[in-house]
Amino acid sequence: MRHLLGISAHYHDSAAALLCDGRIMAAAQEERFSRRKNDDAFPLRAIDYCLREASLPIDRLDAVVFYDKPIPKFARFLETTLALAPGGLGTFLRFAPSWLAEKLNLRGHIREELKGLPESVPILFTEHHQAHAASAFFPSPFPSAAILTVDGVGEYATTTLSRGEGHRLEPLEEIRFPHSLGLLYSAFTAYCGFRVNSGEYKLMGLAPYGRPVHAQRIRDELLDLREDGSFRLNLDYFDFLRGFQMTNDRFHRLFGGPPRRPEERIEARHADLARSIQEVTEEVLLRLVRQAHARTGESRLCLAGGVALNCVANGRILREGPFREIWIQPAAGDAGGALGAALAVWHAAQAQKADSEARPTQDQMQGARLGPDYSEAEVESSLQSLGAVFERLDDDEMDRRVVGWLAQEKVVGWFQGRMEFGPRALGSRSILGDPRSSRMQSQMNLRVKFRESFRPFAPAVLREHVAECFELDIDSPYMLLVAPVRAALRRSDDSGAAPGSAGGEDLVARVNQVRSTLPAVTHVDWSARIQTVSAEGNPRFHRLLHRWHAQTGCPALVNTSFNVRGEPIVCSPDDAYRCFVNSAIDYLVVGNHVLDRERQPVKPPQVFEGGRD
Ligand SMILES: [Fe+2]
Repeated sequence: MRHLLGISAHYHDSAAALLCDGRIMAAAQEERFSRRKNDDAFPLRAIDYCLREASLPIDRLDAVVFYDKPIPKFARFLETTLALAPGGLGTFLRFAPSWLAEKLNLRGHIREELKGLPESVPILFTEHHQAHAASAFFPSPFPSAAILTVDGVGEYATTTLSRGEGHRLEPLEEIRFPHSLGLLYSAFTAYCGFRVNSGEYKLMGLAPYGRPVHAQRIRDELLDLREDGSFRLNLDYFDFLRGFQMTNDRFHRLFGGPPRRPEERIEARHADLARSIQEVTEEVLLRLVRQAHARTGESRLCLAGGVALNCVANGRILREGPFREIWIQPAAGDAGGALGAALAVWHAAQAQKADSEARPTQDQMQGARLGPDYSEAEVESSLQSLGAVFERLDDDEMDRRVVGWLAQEKVVGWFQGRMEFGPRALGSRSILGDPRSSRMQSQMNLRVKFRESFRPFAPAVLREHVAECFELDIDSPYMLLVAPVRAALRRSDDSGAAPGSAGGEDLVARVNQVRSTLPAVTHVDWSARIQTVSAEGNPRFHRLLHRWHAQTGCPALVNTSFNVRGEPIVCSPDDAYRCFVNSAIDYLVVGNHVLDRERQPVKPPQVFEGGRD
């Protein structure tokens, strides 16, 4: 079994991944090609890309692996709706047609979609959390590890603990639906007016403005939490079993009012709720990781599942948990399930073989740069066809100019090499700025992202200098760890948690206050979401940062994803150019081509009076 195609689809953030002889050849989310954010359609474009990347005709696949099992999932759905009858009938009638038409006959559906796939190629299914666990462990550099997966729900499992060694995964414990930390967090996400499955990041970013005044109420009323981290939700407060909304009137009464509507003002009480559920989530996760340590005796931990994208919690697990090292799958959400599904099957086959090779002990994610790349000729032809005005420079001259622009507080679109897999831009499809600038936070939000944001941007920092700026001295290549800015760099005594201080317009004003020598990347509690960049892990981006550091003495840049509000991250040079001219990014760099916005035939709006997030 040499060539395996993994697929995740039909729920949230569809994706495909291709393994050849166990090596990850390609992985990408469908949204990047379809340009529909969080596209849940069958990922035909992503599959097509993966096969092209490896120059593999579809008839040379040895198996297709889907990331969860439709029959148990349907059984769970039926059990839930029947248990609630007659209340669950509405859910049943709403969802049953799609289940019956698409999901139950998924094998047939996949064959229909994959034209040219020979009948002899099997279509296999892993369990949802098996795929998450495989995505967390097999690409990690650890020979053995405890593995924790935490998300909303798969078939039945919502949280699993496994142990990985070599090519083997051993499931040890699980918590089952409806008891779900992911769904609990999503309930607060929805209640605070953010979108479930994508707004969790905003809730996490809101938390530092609030006080944990509801944390005890959550523990007392919503959650029966045990010492080992296992828990049960009190279903009297939730409505997600019926499928229409996350929370019910009893929940709303408990927390003092109806849910916030998305465009309504964010009040202090929303920040307090965010802080409270964040604190409880961290507490549950810390108990779970202690249990994982006690149960497995391992010194290393791997994490995946949507909750593993909570980088504030990850920072605490690292600082306060019992594990010496942790590794987090960068595509920790369901997109990563496509990769995990293929990895699970590959390694299970290796585990059966007497003569299988040992797993490599380096990180196998290749910096998450697993998506499309474009040759200089393709870039040039793309830019020419768009009527763009550009110059082609050698590496040295290009870096010199980019550093010069950044030092003048210009905003640079930075498009290099293969696109990232997972939700974060890590230096391939990034927008860069000067983190020392007190204007950068509001400038990038209003002129580029078309929003006002209460969340700061994230820093990309030279690995060798990270400890000078932040209380962190390990690799964080995937921007999945939050750590404090060093005290020596702090400028303000505003810790961000003053009672009653959060709310409404103040949030944006407060995040724009200068509270460190790196104001654009410092949150109100002096935390920062850090990406470390090493010469081995990302040589191209490292070279730019190195030059920036040499010229300015600052080892960090603002690194935000190359997209505007509501759109997926750019994939092709074409996407990048359109995003560039439709925003107010000052300069665009695509490979060795540089573009000055002032010289383009199309003039974009200077500032967008758009929404907030
Ligand atoms: Fe999941």
